[in-house]
Amino acid sequence: MEVKTSLLDNMIGVGDMVLLEPLNEDSFIENLRKRFDHNEIYTYIGSVVISMNPYRSLPIFTPEKVEEYRNRNFYELSPHIYALADEAYRSLRDQDKDQCILITGESGAGKTEASKLVMSYVAAVCGKGQEVNKVKEQLLQSNPVLEAFGNAKTVRNDNSSRFGKYMDIEFDFKGDPLGGVISNYLLEKSRVCKQPRGERNFHIFYQLLSGASGDTLTKLKLDRDFSKYNYLSLDSATVSGLDDAASFRTVRNAMQIVGFMEDEVQSVLELVAAVLKLGNIEFKPESRVNGFDESRVKDKNDLKEMCELLGIEQSVLERAFSYRTVEAKMEKVSTTLNVAQAYYARDALAKNLYSRLFSWLVTRINESIKAQAKTRHKVMGVLDIYGFEIFEDNSFEQFIINYCNEKLQQIFIELTLREEQEEYVREGIEWTNIEYFNNAVICDLIENNQNGILAMLDEECLRPGTVTDDTFLDKLNTICAEHQHFESRLSKNSKFLTDHSLPHSCFRIQHYAGKVLYRVEGFVDKNNDLLYRDLSQAMYKATHSLMRQLFPEGNPAKVNLKRPPTAGFQFKASVGGLMRNLQTKNPNYIRCIKPNDKKASHIFTDSLVCHQVRYLGLMENVRVRRAGYAFRQPYEPCLERYKMLCRQTWPHWRGPARDGVEVLLIDCSVPAEEFAYGRSKIFIRNPRTLFTLEERRRACLQDLATLIQKIYRGWKCRTHFILLKKSQVVVAAWYRRYAQQKKYEKIKRATLVMQSFTRGWKARKILRQLKYEKRCKEAVTTIAAYWHGTEVRREYRKFFRANAGKKIYCFIIQRIMQKYFLGLKTTMPSMSPIDNTWSAQPYSFLEGAHTELRRIFHFWRCKKHRGQFTEEKKAVYEEKLEASEIFKDKKALYPSSVSQPFKGDYLEIQKNPKYQKLNSAVEEKVLLADVVNKINRANGKGSPRLFLLTKSNFVLADQKTGQVKASVPLPDLTSVSVSTQSDGFFALKLKEGSASAAKGDFLLSSEHLIEIITKLHRTGTTAADKDQINIDISDEFLVQFKQDKVCVKFIQGGPKNGTSAACKRKNNRLLEVSVPSSP
Ligand SMILES: Nc1ncnc2c1ncn2[C@@H]1O[C@H](COP(=O)(O)OP(=O)(O)OP(=O)(O)O)[C@@H](O)[C@H]1O
Ligand SMILES: [Mg+2]
Repeated sequence: MEVKTSLLDNMIGVGDMVLLEPLNEDSFIENLRKRFDHNEIYTYIGSVVISMNPYRSLPIFTPEKVEEYRNRNFYELSPHIYALADEAYRSLRDQDKDQCILITGESGAGKTEASKLVMSYVAAVCGKGQEVNKVKEQLLQSNPVLEAFGNAKTVRNDNSSRFGKYMDIEFDFKGDPLGGVISNYLLEKSRVCKQPRGERNFHIFYQLLSGASGDTLTKLKLDRDFSKYNYLSLDSATVSGLDDAASFRTVRNAMQIVGFMEDEVQSVLELVAAVLKLGNIEFKPESRVNGFDESRVKDKNDLKEMCELLGIEQSVLERAFSYRTVEAKMEKVSTTLNVAQAYYARDALAKNLYSRLFSWLVTRINESIKAQAKTRHKVMGVLDIYGFEIFEDNSFEQFIINYCNEKLQQIFIELTLREEQEEYVREGIEWTNIEYFNNAVICDLIENNQNGILAMLDEECLRPGTVTDDTFLDKLNTICAEHQHFESRLSKNSKFLTDHSLPHSCFRIQHYAGKVLYRVEGFVDKNNDLLYRDLSQAMYKATHSLMRQLFPEGNPAKVNLKRPPTAGFQFKASVGGLMRNLQTKNPNYIRCIKPNDKKASHIFTDSLVCHQVRYLGLMENVRVRRAGYAFRQPYEPCLERYKMLCRQTWPHWRGPARDGVEVLLIDCSVPAEEFAYGRSKIFIRNPRTLFTLEERRRACLQDLATLIQKIYRGWKCRTHFILLKKSQVVVAAWYRRYAQQKKYEKIKRATLVMQSFTRGWKARKILRQLKYEKRCKEAVTTIAAYWHGTEVRREYRKFFRANAGKKIYCFIIQRIMQKYFLGLKTTMPSMSPIDNTWSAQPYSFLEGAHTELRRIFHFWRCKKHRGQFTEEKKAVYEEKLEASEIFKDKKALYPSSVSQPFKGDYLEIQKNPKYQKLNSAVEEKVLLADVVNKINRANGKGSPRLFLLTKSNFVLADQKTGQVKASVPLPDLTSVSVSTQSDGFFALKLKEGSASAAKGDFLLSSEHLIEIITKLHRTGTTAADKDQINIDISDEFLVQFKQDKVCVKFIQGGPKNGTSAACKRKNNRLLEVSVPSSP
């Protein structure tokens, strides 16, 4: 359910001054102070919002607050600027009424801040979407740009707006922002050249010098040091709480968002730099022959840099500071400028340049933010204009500013009264007139076309002859002397003749907001706002395109001899236009008040506030508002709020709200003259009546609260009791069940015990019986079995004995065999053919099988072993086998050769370079090469020879030279003779009659006898178509030496003969070889 709240809830003081009782200035100020002390900075006068400047940030501008005030009635929540913004926005959106928000107050009262709050609120509550958000962002970001160029620190405000701003925000029918238009009013351009004590030039100058990068400054030919520039006042160049460098970044960023191109930003900064440079140009007098002084630029450096920046020819500008051309009726006259005139010209140029740049910025922003769609727009205008100001020294600018504020006050009076009047008419209530101060008379003093101050100033400016500020003052003194708001020492009005607070060169105006003393000095010049044509033409000649745009009148093709309209005239016209514009819109007022002059929070200076309250006419405002009826409210919310005061309307009234309110007021005995029934609202004449109603409501709320409390407590106790009762029943039920359960379990246990005892007794009895019966049965069976057994044994004994032995034998033999074979499996020897192990024979009857198995196993593993042989190995074994067949058990040397491998080539004849010749002599592959001893037939001594065997012959060669001594083809070898003993002698017997046999047989000895003979036998067998070579093994054989046959005899020698066999010639027919006896 939505909670209905009201402005009247939790009020501090009164939220709406209309309800103030008693109403006088003291109570008014006291109410403001009380609210201000409680951080309530906003107070209403009906629909007007009074805003006190808190001079500190308060947590009341959060997004949550925006949500709180969104779509709520104006009086529903405590006073807030958001309520006004919401009201304006909703009536714009829902009722299609153009709105304007008029923010007034003196300088530093918070107008600019208020305008930003209104804009940000509207931005937050209006439609969303990419395009809409972009528009919003551009509208909001136009503020920092304009503030940088148009705001400055003054003694009253660190961020004082030095221009007037009116911004129209345009919305479509849904209430989405489409764009906006900004109008600016008269920038206080005199500030560019000179600033009062304690004040600064426009922010942008300081921001540029503090925040721009070194690079940018170099490009702009600037120095970061403020003191280098004549136009920058130094006494308050830095302001506490203002970070110029950070602001510069914000401004650049804002310019980018608004849509400034990079080169446009650069151009703008160049013009700002040019203004600073301009200020540094100084002049010196130069005497001329005609006796007059002519000005000359003192130090041309700044002039040169400025001309470079803007692309102006230096000589042109220099000349424009020394001469002035006056054109009249086709005639051109050139006059020289003295130093004072040159300074005037320089400052005029700087002021014009800056103010035109500012206007260009506004136009450029407008280009970016203007609404694209051509459909009809709804408009919300926000006016933030420079506030009413009184300085020590007030000049033309203050006069203009205060005139503008005067006009705003005028429109406020007009519109407030009109609005009030219209509401009474709308609601059909009689209107009674009210007295208030109307400042129309002051406006008339200033703007009257015949004898207004502005008109007279214009007249004076346009008058031929010598015109000075004093002649202007004289004129005022004569024409305005009688005016009750004009005061001057020299006026005809004698009462000021002795007023020493009024200097001779001044006049004073009693503004609605107080008396202001204006010094006339500069009025004429400022109104004329003259810029020598030579200067504007020099500017037009610049190559800087923005500069040319700013001085269109410098175009020689468009020379206009007509005087341009004066500043005062222009301002009056634009203010007039603004007022007409405002009158077409529904006004919403924010009246800003500053609580103290120290820019401090928490200080409330009564006199200052009182002064503002007076001149803002706030008391009159309240009085007008209360003239007829102090309070008004639509019937529905009124009935909703007070319905509890009457039995008929409480809790529900089922009829029209108006009737309900009528019943209610009659029931509350409110006197009839205290209220009036409008068409949609009830009007209450006296705040007291309202407060009485409020008081009764509060009391009633107390009673209602008590009633609610009572019913709630009763309900709570009853519910609690019912709960307790229910719980008690549940607990009792559970307990009873538990007790019964316990009792039952006990009985059950007892029963079970008894049952078990009885059953046990019975069972035991049966068991005994059964046991007895079983034993009887067993006895019978045993007896029967014995008897049967005896019978059967007697019957079968004879068959059993005949077969049992054989069966047992077979069985046992089977078992033994089984065990033997299984045992054999586990004790199997290794697969090596030379492994002789074999398990022991377990039973002698298995001997045959055991030996056979061993043999089979050996053959089998030999076969396996042979299967792994390579071809070479196989050949080696074949040779070994052949050797065995030849020598085994025939020659004693054989066993020792078994383990020696048959190497064949012991000389490595292929590799050894020593035998290269020999090798080449032997064409075939060498099967065997070794050193042998050739036995000398004469003395039986041996001499070493190389023995080579090839496939077809054997060769004997000299060991040292390698020269072939004999080469015998194998077919010529008939037999070989060896002894049975362990010596290495062998005789090679050749075929008788063959060519080789010419020298006789060979008797040789070798360590590798077995190998040589085997190889010879093998090669001889396979080679040629020859019979096998015979191998003679005997201890005596004949050897043919040439013609003689010699017998070689082998005898066993004793140990004396040494370890090797020795050969000795015994006689012509006998060679004796003694062989050491075998160990
Ligand atoms: N609602 C606010 N909350 C916090 N501070 C505020 C508020 N309103 C104003 N101020 C403070 O007061 C200062 C002056 O306010 P602002 O610039 O709005 O005055 P102004 O009425 O526009 O003055 P001027 O006529 O010189 O432009 C601000 O810089 C800010 O410090
Ligand atoms: Mg301002």
